[in-house]
Amino acid sequence: MAARLSPSRREPLVSQPRLRTVVVLAAGEGKRMKSALPKVLHPLLGRTLLGHVLAAAEPLRADRTVVVVGHGAEQVRAHLAEIASETTPVLQERQLGTGHAVRIALDAVAEATGTVVVINGDVPLLRPETVAALVEAHESAGAAATVLAAEVPDPTGLGRIVRDAAGRLAQIVEERDATAEQRGLREINAGIYAFDVVRLREALGKLSTDNDQGEEYLTDVFGLLRDAGEPVAVHCAPDHVETLGCNDRVELAGLRRLLRDRVNEGWMRTGVSILDPHTTWIDVTVTVERDAVIDQNTQLQGATVVGTGALVGPDTTLVDTTVGAGASVVRSHAVGAEVGPQASVGPYAYLRPQSRLARKAKVGTFVETKKATIGEGSKVPHLSYVGDATIGEHSNIGAASVFVNYDGVRKHHTTIGSHARTGADNMFVAPVRVGDGAYTAAGSVIVSDVPPGAMAVARGQQRNVEGWVLRKRAGTAAAEAAQRAREDASGTASPAREGEPIHEGPETVGGPVNAGDTATE
Ligand code: UD1
Ligand code: CA
Repeated sequence: MAARLSPSRREPLVSQPRLRTVVVLAAGEGKRMKSALPKVLHPLLGRTLLGHVLAAAEPLRADRTVVVVGHGAEQVRAHLAEIASETTPVLQERQLGTGHAVRIALDAVAEATGTVVVINGDVPLLRPETVAALVEAHESAGAAATVLAAEVPDPTGLGRIVRDAAGRLAQIVEERDATAEQRGLREINAGIYAFDVVRLREALGKLSTDNDQGEEYLTDVFGLLRDAGEPVAVHCAPDHVETLGCNDRVELAGLRRLLRDRVNEGWMRTGVSILDPHTTWIDVTVTVERDAVIDQNTQLQGATVVGTGALVGPDTTLVDTTVGAGASVVRSHAVGAEVGPQASVGPYAYLRPQSRLARKAKVGTFVETKKATIGEGSKVPHLSYVGDATIGEHSNIGAASVFVNYDGVRKHHTTIGSHARTGADNMFVAPVRVGDGAYTAAGSVIVSDVPPGAMAVARGQQRNVEGWVLRKRAGTAAAEAAQRAREDASGTASPAREGEPIHEGPETVGGPVNAGDTATE
């Protein structure tokens, strides 16, 4: 182990701290995840594990970022192309150890000078500030290698930092290779390092596989460099939580809770109310403005933005959805939707992609929308499906209406104008247009355009067959009730009641018979 690096070469190899290389180790399988998905691709509040690590290294503005891929290489490469196309994936065909992985990575960056930062791909809680502090400590001390360490309550499975009598780093020992005494140490290697690239290359060339796993350990570089008289250092993480790795799904769930708390606390400190932080899950990619209120059991995901003073929740999931200032979204699910300022959604609404609600628009209870623009102040209050549609301003769509957009092959568009009042239980068979200020009668199937200001009636005429129940259902409770009503009427009925039109229900636009009734609102 004590192979000496030539000290005479040390002087000309002074780092050029500005030029940096980041190497992320992501070739391992993560066996204990028991998953078809490579470990580093498991998601955690808006990013994959790998995405979190890359984000932590982002502020370093490295010249080159190399990601060592192996298990599930194609999947990992595809993910990198999507989220970080400037990174260079390098294939490690067989996982012969972390030292071997870094060696392969450096082969791909022959030109690298200065500092190289190496990060295990499975430490998603790592903060950019901590990586920056590690690099700063490393460069200002002129160290050959610096390891990020942390005191942890339970060091099981981790490499231990072994210090000499003077408290300096002596070596890093893997648990399986450690003595009983070393296992008692609670200061661990977080798997995040800064190296001088030239001295790292030299030491990597001298690694042995003389250990319990028969692998090339990156951690052995520290003992090698120290034995060669090179300055090696330990930088302590401010909070051990940042250094937690992830080996199985139980640990992943634990990390998710920790990250949730960190994210929620961050938003509360900027002036967002989170009524139940334990049941509120906000992706790191989400933005929430001041004085927004997030009620319990709510998930905000992806590129979601919640505007100032908006209310979201309880029991709501928003994915890639924008909620305007002062809007409310209650017990609802939205994906790729835009909810305008002071608009209202739910309870129990489903907004699908390209649903756009303008200011003060309303999508109410048990309403589904898709590719639908709902103009300012317009309302779809109850039990409806609005797909492939444009609704103008200040219009009202009656309850239980369906925008019939699909002919079995293609989708067609429906346009409703402004200040329209459509009756309850309408079918708008697209393509079709309802003009500004038009009305439609309840129960209509609208298959042709309705001109502005017209009342469209498209339903069967009602016919009452007098006395049918008494004749055809004699002896039933219905017949008895009808008989009593007939007797009451002949005794006490007022002329006004007898003259009343056939009534079609109190909450519908009824067509010519009772067009003065309001639509459902
Ligand atoms: C490693 C450290 C250990 C440290 C721990 C922190 C070594 C020898 N040990 O142990 O001291 O406490 O991390 O979590 O480095 N990988 C490759 N190619 C390989 C092997 C691993 O890319 O051939 C990647 C893995 O995908 C993973 C990272 O390197 O992202 C660490 O590998 P892992 O096997 O998890 O190392 P640990 O045993 O946890
Ligand atoms: Ca690990």
